[in-house]
Amino acid sequence: MGKESQSYTLPILPLANTVLFPAFAMPLSIQQPAAVKAVDAALAGENKMIAAFAQQDPATENPRPADLCATGTAATIKLVARFGATVQIIIHGLERVTIVDFIQSRPFLKAQVQPWPLVVIDTIETEALQREVLELTGKYFALAHPETKLAFPSLAGPGEDFMQLVYPVGKLLQLDLDKEQALLTAASNQQAMTLLREYLSHEIQILEVRKKISDRAQDKLSKEQRNYVLREQIRTIQQELGEDAPDSEVVELRKKLEETVLPETVRAEVEREMARLEKIPPASPEYQVTQSHLQLILELPWNNASTDNLSLKNARQVLDEDHYNLKEVKERIVEQLAVMKLNPGAKAPILCFVGPPGVGKTSLGQSIARALERKFERFSLGGMHDEAELRGHRRTYIGAMPGRIIQALRRSGVMNPLLMLDEVDKLGQDFRGDPAAALMEVLDPAQHDSFRDNYLDLPFDLSKVFFITTANSVDTIPRPLLDRMETIVLSGYSDEEKIVIAQQYLLPRQRSEAGLLADQFRVPEESLVAVIRRYTREAGVRELERMLGRLARKVAVRVAEGEADAVRIAVADLSELLGPERFFVEKIRQELPPGVATGLAWTEAGGDVLYVEAIELPAGEKFTMTGHVGEVMKESAMAANGCVLSHCQSLGIKQKLPAVHIHVPAGAIPKDGPSAGVTMAAALASLYVGKAVRSDTAMTGEITLSGLVLPVGGVKEKLLAARRAGIRRVILPQENKKDLSDLPEHVRAEMELIFATRIEEVLTAAIPAIFDGLCQPEKP
Ligand SMILES: Nc1ncnc2c1ncn2[C@@H]1O[C@H](COP(=O)(O)OP(=O)(O)OP(=O)(O)O)[C@@H](O)[C@H]1O
Ligand SMILES: [Mg+2]
Repeated sequence: MGKESQSYTLPILPLANTVLFPAFAMPLSIQQPAAVKAVDAALAGENKMIAAFAQQDPATENPRPADLCATGTAATIKLVARFGATVQIIIHGLERVTIVDFIQSRPFLKAQVQPWPLVVIDTIETEALQREVLELTGKYFALAHPETKLAFPSLAGPGEDFMQLVYPVGKLLQLDLDKEQALLTAASNQQAMTLLREYLSHEIQILEVRKKISDRAQDKLSKEQRNYVLREQIRTIQQELGEDAPDSEVVELRKKLEETVLPETVRAEVEREMARLEKIPPASPEYQVTQSHLQLILELPWNNASTDNLSLKNARQVLDEDHYNLKEVKERIVEQLAVMKLNPGAKAPILCFVGPPGVGKTSLGQSIARALERKFERFSLGGMHDEAELRGHRRTYIGAMPGRIIQALRRSGVMNPLLMLDEVDKLGQDFRGDPAAALMEVLDPAQHDSFRDNYLDLPFDLSKVFFITTANSVDTIPRPLLDRMETIVLSGYSDEEKIVIAQQYLLPRQRSEAGLLADQFRVPEESLVAVIRRYTREAGVRELERMLGRLARKVAVRVAEGEADAVRIAVADLSELLGPERFFVEKIRQELPPGVATGLAWTEAGGDVLYVEAIELPAGEKFTMTGHVGEVMKESAMAANGCVLSHCQSLGIKQKLPAVHIHVPAGAIPKDGPSAGVTMAAALASLYVGKAVRSDTAMTGEITLSGLVLPVGGVKEKLLAARRAGIRRVILPQENKKDLSDLPEHVRAEMELIFATRIEEVLTAAIPAIFDGLCQPEKP
């Protein structure tokens, strides 16, 4: 290339970090003042020529002659653009030169240069080398830029022309400065090609190793990540197609959020969570948690309330349709309706229905909901130990759920359902917290407009909920909890009441449940009585309903098999249909020996008759009491004994009294409470004076040491139990007279009731002739 070694003078352009090759153009940006001056000088010249030399050290700021490589390239400047102090040029290499001598170093470098043409060797060997370089170049590009198809000029042309490929390929390899400079200083085409082959092989090796590493890494991408990538791809594809994003769940939530009316504070919180959800990848566990929380918030009835039916007439009618009698409860509900009608803002009351099993507490709640046209939800508190069950777990726990209250509200879909909490007396309490305390908060009118569930973690308004709780007994309900509720007692039913309930409610229901018509299944009254007395023993009517259901199904079988058209259940049929009698009507003990008295007990299942037996112990023994009795009953026995002893004189007992043993059968059934006081006193007195207690008389009442008779609970149940056992004469505390109002009239009429205020009155009524031969006890 170029002419023979004629030297010429050119301005020198130092190149930091690059090499200019002959027959190669490249853009340069020049800032260094001396270099700019050199460019200006070149531009002023005729051919706009300049010689570019690479710096040995790119970091040198103001290169002096000694800082430059000895071999460079003479070039012409093709294009110039200026941006302030910076000059942009495109420079085109012409021929390889070496420096002969420097002419000036200020204000810019200038030197005398001499062309140094490449020696071109043209042999079989170089041709082979050429082909190899071509092949390697192809391989390199296939690896480095697989996406681009490079078409190489079919440079079959040997020798010098081939260098037009060698230099640009060298450039594209992005070699470091030393290697580029070495390529420029190669003496012959053969040497240049040998160098390039070396460089290419090296780069290809590196690329191959990198590919292997990345392939292996690709394999290691876990399934999740792959799924994520796939899902992302689906999303992109669907977006391209203008379809819904694949995360339709999020989209749906978002849509629902837009449609739902939420309180201000709640909305702010929800928006925040929503924004978070949209950022979390669906595969992450946090996504699930956030999503179900949002789902719950959007499903809760924040503002959604049903309209109450406040017609008193309708309410009375509905309540009567569902339940017999229960006048007090029904009237209480009607009163509440009247209040709600006149003062719509009134807080709903919290009622507590107390009574034995099967007397209609739960079904009455349902009936009230029906009368009010409110949604009904119920759950049982029985055996609930964990506060979290009521109030929810924090969302940080795995498998966290909202509490039962919030769940019930979600199910109901309204913020003002009638919520029945059954078995409030069976609430547990242990190390996991005290659900009673949580319940207290739920039922406290001062707090329940902002109830906080741990899971929901937002205040929810419970003030419109109509709460009704049920219990079998108030004894085990924690006092503060009881104070928040208005208790309404539903006592057990007498046989007569049960008959009416059976005829009017249970029979028709069981009949239609079995698919029978009114005249296909009849149970006459005497059969009903037999079922009640011999197949059930309960205060309520649940067992009775079950028995009637059994009868109805047996009849249904007969009718379906065409065996009979209509069946009338006679008393004699019962043992065949229901099996042997399960209970025998309690027979009263016909004759009682001295030391035995008939008492009445109240249990959660209703009333019961119980006998107290006392015997003398040999001298030296201590006062003993057996029969699975509790502390209170034991103390009550001591009091009764003390009371009787203090009346020894008026009873005419002279001798020193022996120790006694009191037993209360049945020995396996736990008993407690003070209400057997008078019975024990009567038994002891009877023992001491040696005269029997009347066997047709039962009694109940607490007794004090000084002989006062105090009132007791469960009077209706006790009277019904006495009557069931065939006892028609009962001694009661005077103060219990007021409790007789809910005793059915026919029962009241049949019974001889004796009201006592003092032990002497009890004893006179219970033990005939006890004071015979004595002066009448003086009344204090
Ligand atoms: N006065 C009544 N009139 C009509 N049916 C009644 C009456 N009392 C109870 N029942 C019926 O007796 C059945 C049992 O009543 P329910 O389940 O409400 O008892 P409960 O008091 O809730 O008992 P538990 O304390 O065991 O929960 C129901 O089918 C109910 O309809
Ligand atoms: Mg119930």
